[in-house]
Amino acid sequence: MRKGILLAGGLGTRLFPITQVVCKQLLPVYDKPMVYYPLCTLMQAGITEILLICTPTDLPLFKSLLHNGHQWGINIEFATQAKPKGLAQALIIAEHFLNGSPCAMILGDNLFYGHQLQHTLQSTNKISSATVFGYHVANPQAYGVIEFDKHNQVLSITEKPAKPKSNFAMPGLYFFDNKASYYAKQVFPSERGELEIVDVINQYLDNNNLQVNILGRGTAWLDTGTPDAMAEATQYIAAIEKRQGLKVSCPEEIAYSMGLIDQLQLKKLAKPLLKSGYGEYLLSLLNKNFPDEMD
Ligand code: TTP
Repeated sequence: MRKGILLAGGLGTRLFPITQVVCKQLLPVYDKPMVYYPLCTLMQAGITEILLICTPTDLPLFKSLLHNGHQWGINIEFATQAKPKGLAQALIIAEHFLNGSPCAMILGDNLFYGHQLQHTLQSTNKISSATVFGYHVANPQAYGVIEFDKHNQVLSITEKPAKPKSNFAMPGLYFFDNKASYYAKQVFPSERGELEIVDVINQYLDNNNLQVNILGRGTAWLDTGTPDAMAEATQYIAAIEKRQGLKVSCPEEIAYSMGLIDQLQLKKLAKPLLKSGYGEYLLSLLNKNFPDEMD
């Protein structure tokens, strides 16, 4: 069974002074803490065993927010990363937790929302090769960039290239087989002193074991690393939630709709949240029946 890694360490220097005492992933994106969004993405993929990696300072805060996950029908464990030495280091930290399982790793400041996303995530979960995603962006030089040939085969993936070979960036959600920790241990620090995730992914590419799924226009991928990106993500989520009367990435709702918790538990979770309206939303779910295509 595939396990999840939620990477919520880092320094958040692009958000200073906001993140000098509170880490980015605990800040709000509209009506809920940022970390709820990537957590829900893992849950929507059908992953229920999750390791959250954060700094030692933030550990008690994450624990008091998320507990052990049992309230949402999942299991959350915690590990720390003392210094942000790169995304690939998380795969080494997680080796013991993974214990030979395949994994999906998501960055704590990445938000995904869109048509049939749950379906895409669940089918990706079933694939045995490594899978990353490609997403058309205006500013690819800020990301890992994927180069394709004429037949849509991946030729290369390069981290933050000065001259990007395409507009397709790689979002912070990666599905790996059980070799991820081993490959991560083969990686040497880059010029910026980090163990780069691209160097793990390129080992899959070299072994012809990498698939790239393009996320189309119907999917939103937002990251929230700068004040503008945070504000835009908040506006985006607010607009959708107000228009639809449905919440984006509400872990209680996802747990309930996936059958991980029952009505009684949903009611219990709603109780302390009634004053913010969040609890009332949870209670309203008790009387709702959604058609299948509304994922
Ligand atoms: P980044 O945005 O690359 O780094 P950061 O969050 O520290 O922010 P800044 O660039 O403003 O200093 O990280 C992306 C995500 O990955 C974010 O959720 C933090 C996390 N991360 C870690 O947990 N450990 C790491 O070693 C790195 C590099 C990032």
